Amino acid sequence: MRFFAVFFATVSAVRASHVLHERREASIHHAWRQGERVQADAIVPLRIALKQTNLDAGAEKLNALSHPDSEYYGKHLSVEEVDDLFAPAEHSIDSVREWLIQSGINETAIAHSYSRGWIAANIPAKVAEGLFHAKLYEYESIKTGSIRMGCHEYHLPAHLVDYVDYVTPGVKLSAALKKRVKRGRFGGGSSHHGGPYRRPNGHGYPPHHFPPGWPGNLPEDVRYCGGNMTPPCWRYLYKLPFPHINDSVNAAGVFEQGDYFAQSDTSQYFQKYAPYVPSDYSPQVVSVDGGQAPVAADDPNNGGGSDGDIDILTSLIYPQSVVVYQVDDANYASQELSKDNLFNTFLDAVDGSYCNYSAYGITGDSPGIDPTYPDPAPDGYKGQRQCGAYKLTRVLSIGYGSAEVDFPKNYVQRQCNEFMKLGLQGHTILIGSGSFGVGNGPGVPTPSGCLGAQGNVFNPVYPVGCPWVTSVGTTMVGPNQTVNDPESAYQIDMSGPGLPDAFKYISSGGGFSNYFSTPDYQKRAVSEWRRFHDPGYPTYVANADASNIGANGGRYNRAGRGYPDISATGAYFHTIVNGEDDISSSTTHAIPIVASVITLINQQRTLAGKGPVGFLNTALYNNPWMLNDITNGSNANCQSGGFKAVQGWDPITGLGTPNYPKMLKYFMSLP
Ligand SMILES: *[C@@H]1O[C@H](CO)[C@@H](O)[C@H](O)[C@H]1NC(C)=O
Ligand SMILES: *[C@@H]1O[C@H](CO)[C@@H](O)[C@H](O)[C@H]1NC(C)=O
Ligand SMILES: *[C@@H]1O[C@H](CO)[C@@H](O)[C@H](O)[C@H]1NC(C)=O
Ligand SMILES: *[C@@H]1O[C@H](CO)[C@@H](O)[C@H](O)[C@H]1NC(C)=O
Ligand SMILES: *[C@@H]1O[C@H](CO)[C@@H](O)[C@H](O)[C@H]1NC(C)=O
Repeated sequence: MRFFAVFFATVSAVRASHVLHERREASIHHAWRQGERVQADAIVPLRIALKQTNLDAGAEKLNALSHPDSEYYGKHLSVEEVDDLFAPAEHSIDSVREWLIQSGINETAIAHSYSRGWIAANIPAKVAEGLFHAKLYEYESIKTGSIRMGCHEYHLPAHLVDYVDYVTPGVKLSAALKKRVKRGRFGGGSSHHGGPYRRPNGHGYPPHHFPPGWPGNLPEDVRYCGGNMTPPCWRYLYKLPFPHINDSVNAAGVFEQGDYFAQSDTSQYFQKYAPYVPSDYSPQVVSVDGGQAPVAADDPNNGGGSDGDIDILTSLIYPQSVVVYQVDDANYASQELSKDNLFNTFLDAVDGSYCNYSAYGITGDSPGIDPTYPDPAPDGYKGQRQCGAYKLTRVLSIGYGSAEVDFPKNYVQRQCNEFMKLGLQGHTILIGSGSFGVGNGPGVPTPSGCLGAQGNVFNPVYPVGCPWVTSVGTTMVGPNQTVNDPESAYQIDMSGPGLPDAFKYISSGGGFSNYFSTPDYQKRAVSEWRRFHDPGYPTYVANADASNIGANGGRYNRAGRGYPDISATGAYFHTIVNGEDDISSSTTHAIPIVASVITLINQQRTLAGKGPVGFLNTALYNNPWMLNDITNGSNANCQSGGFKAVQGWDPITGLGTPNYPKMLKYFMSLP
């Protein structure tokens, strides 16, 4: 009792100096229903994210060392150099601590992370509400019934505004208090249809549609690629070499969460479609915070996504090793929670700069949204959170994502800065641009997957709005086409049971971020597109907190970072899942293809004594001739025809698909 009395006396003294820090836009969060006030004595895992310093300097630095004309090209930084560059200023940590202590929080209860990025304390709800002049509520997910804590708005003392990025639970909800539903992978996008899309057509498209003798001028192993994509088809399309190099630095990584490969499936795939890979080949599995793979072929969590990623990557780069980052224990990885927490646990493990504080028996330095380890659940990971435990591969393929609007801007920006740091260290981060054209999947976060009262405002994808990752769109070769035909933007009719009509066309994700503005490297490409090909939809310019999405009838943010950057084919792939050879189409298939291309280029650079290519976009936008421009197809959604693939960059296939010989020649010419 005494504790509270002291506390409130202090707070009323400083009340006048508080200012609004973040406010939720109610219209955006259709997915959550506000419930009861959080009980006054419930313990709240308070996390205060501090503003990091030097972020502009970081962006400038990455521009320089990824720019082909710069004297700094390829001069990547070490982990330590990056940590030093961004650590929050000592006085910002001290100021926030001091405020908490003066407000009556016991000093021993306040922890901050090793990298000094977060301050944490587990305190009663009533105390938290007083500190931030906020009302904490329970929020229930309309879709899953899971419960979280959060508030509509919160305030900070004016003198701390410049030091604090954001606070959780706040506008960003706390971790789920009850968790029930398995999430879908990016390719699936929602619980309606997780995993890549598979056609119930056992053996691909038979070649009998072709006139006799046609296409006789193609080598036997690529005659029937239309409708039957296999490794020789990808090699033919992108002029890739048959792989033969294994070096110690260019293992390629793939991120998996909640979807697990089965060894018997990948073995069967290699036997059938990549016989040069020994059938018992197994990728190296890095278990991040309890993620375990492989699983039995008939395990319900073998959704086919991991199988496909490993099949594609291995077929294109073996004998070079493949590393699977299997993130989060079975309990967390399959939770509805992880829709909102895709990358922080992983970034902790490969960067170490998020982690390392312990308070009240809770370990982990990310805000309350992230998994907490050790995990007391029966199948939970009982170890400590792994901080900086693993070295990240030079190239990483990520087929997961969500809607940008699902996250507060501060949270997304902060994570984007982590991606920037990886770029500074020479990593190439490739992330899919989504599967629903200019929108998102059903329920992400609105039933239509689109925004605005009329559901006609485009809904950009997370995390590819971050300008420091390379966003990968998807193309296709039609079932009646050959590998000599120009590719088109990916658009597949997936009509079928359980899929609402509005979602029957799955197409390459593309559009403009509401949170990030057009980066310098992209400005010319985007303005050319706007000048000649903008379809003329009404637009808006997102304001600082993106609370005016769709303003004045606009459909997309005309000042936003455009995505994707590059693309590759994703339709009609043979995959083997639970022993069955099937045809699978998924936007996520494109990502390991691009990851393979970059790995093969890095191998050649290694042979020549050079470093990795690292962050790609600056070089790509300066040299679009290295890519096959895609000029057919569109990505309709949100009651619109979406965008069209046109000459030059476009928000559906980006700059186009890889032309390996051209890319190799260019990247070999750089230092
Ligand atoms: C702060 O916490 C420590 C350890 O739990 C305890 O010994 C101490 O009495 C507390 N101080 C106050 C002022 O409550
Ligand atoms: C490739 O090299 C790594 C060491 O860098 C080794 O562990 C792995 O077994 C090699 N793979 C093959 C297929 O030889
Ligand atoms: C975490 O903190 C402990 C104790 O302060 C320290 O020994 C350890 O090196 C830290 N680990 C990381 C990854 O920062
Ligand atoms: C391929 O073309 C033939 C002849 O034009 C047509 O009958 C068939 O439906 C087409 N198949 C597909 C999958 O588009
Ligand atoms: C253009 O792309 C669409 C799919 O987006 C495809 O159905 C059509 O066949 C393509 N046309 C050509 C000429 O490739």
